[in-house]
Amino acid sequence: MTMTQPADARSDAADAVLDVRDLRVSFGPGLDAVDGLTLTARRGETVALVGESGCGKTLSALTLSGLLPSGAAVSGSAVLDGLQLVGRREKQWRGLRGSKVSMIFQDAATALNPLMTVGAQIEEVMAIHGTHGRAERRERAVQLLASVGVPDAAHRARNHPHQLSGGMRQRVMIAIALAGSPDLVVADEPTTALDVTVQAQVLTLLRDSTRDAAVLFITHDMGVVAEIADRVVVMYAGKVVESGTVTEVLERPHHPYTVALLASVPDPDTPRVGELPTIPGRVPPLGERGTGCPFRDRCPKAQERCAEAPPLAAVGDTGSVAACWFPEHTAQTDPAEEATP
Ligand SMILES: Nc1ncnc2c1ncn2[C@@H]1O[C@H](COP(=O)(O)OP(=O)(O)OP(=O)(O)O)[C@@H](O)[C@H]1O
Ligand code: SF4
Ligand SMILES: [Mg+2]
Repeated sequence: MTMTQPADARSDAADAVLDVRDLRVSFGPGLDAVDGLTLTARRGETVALVGESGCGKTLSALTLSGLLPSGAAVSGSAVLDGLQLVGRREKQWRGLRGSKVSMIFQDAATALNPLMTVGAQIEEVMAIHGTHGRAERRERAVQLLASVGVPDAAHRARNHPHQLSGGMRQRVMIAIALAGSPDLVVADEPTTALDVTVQAQVLTLLRDSTRDAAVLFITHDMGVVAEIADRVVVMYAGKVVESGTVTEVLERPHHPYTVALLASVPDPDTPRVGELPTIPGRVPPLGERGTGCPFRDRCPKAQERCAEAPPLAAVGDTGSVAACWFPEHTAQTDPAEEATP
């Protein structure tokens, strides 16, 4: 393992539309809910942010959308198309949301305005960010609804959210997110509430309709990652523990936490009897994270050295990085094995 800067951060930064470096979200001393997030994304690329509940995924997303709760202090850097997002005031964010960055939430039922027709909600985004006339906005809203797979779009545009199914509402959310042609779409578990068939349709749609934007796709489901992502960033207890291309991370995971996450994905070819394997233990809550490797209480490979925090470092020669003293799938031998005659 070489102690270098994250390889993928360096090599991709030049053509990245989103460049996040050492982003931190803190609720006070020792309460860093996001503890050094580094990632890049190019246009047309989907980067999945993965981890169990409480790992800091949503707070990362809210930081990039300027929607953090009060009391959260942000440091580090997040540059989107040359624009520094960290440190912006709410007033400045209002001009950016929709046109630079837009967010798709898990629950379209609460994210949409129940009192407005869905067409009007799409037109509203266009009115704020575009120069189109009213008739043109109306026509484009219908086109956009049709392009996200809403049948009979002209009629549906006049519906209120409660008149649509969950899958249709989520398509409307995607249409709203795309209405201002943003550079970055942040999608926080956008298909978790949908049944499996609709989920697959919405994932395909999201992928096809975001060719001009970078997408940060948040999920706890490695099965979904395989469907949608180009690259993967795995978070644990606020920290990035592994990142790399989807092929590399899914086929040759280096961090024991990634290995454990992948082991809990159902195999579609083998109908499972009983519960899925889950990772024993839980993510340490904020305030109980201490020093050392954050995964060591749950890690089957933990050793004495893990009391010291492992740095994020290049593993192998594929551009993946991982924060582990004893990563899997590397030519490197464990120091413990080296000591054995
Ligand atoms: N407003 C807040 N005040 C204090 N702590 C918070 C606040 N919001 C979130 N946290 C804490 O920050 C950590 C990360 O939360 P976050 O919502 O980002 O997790 P997540 O990875 O999105 O989890 P999930 O998969 O459940 O959505 C958690 O420990 C959470 O308890
Ligand atoms: S550093 Fe140690 S405890 Fe942490 S993931 Fe690697 S082997 Fe496990
Ligand atoms: Mg969340």
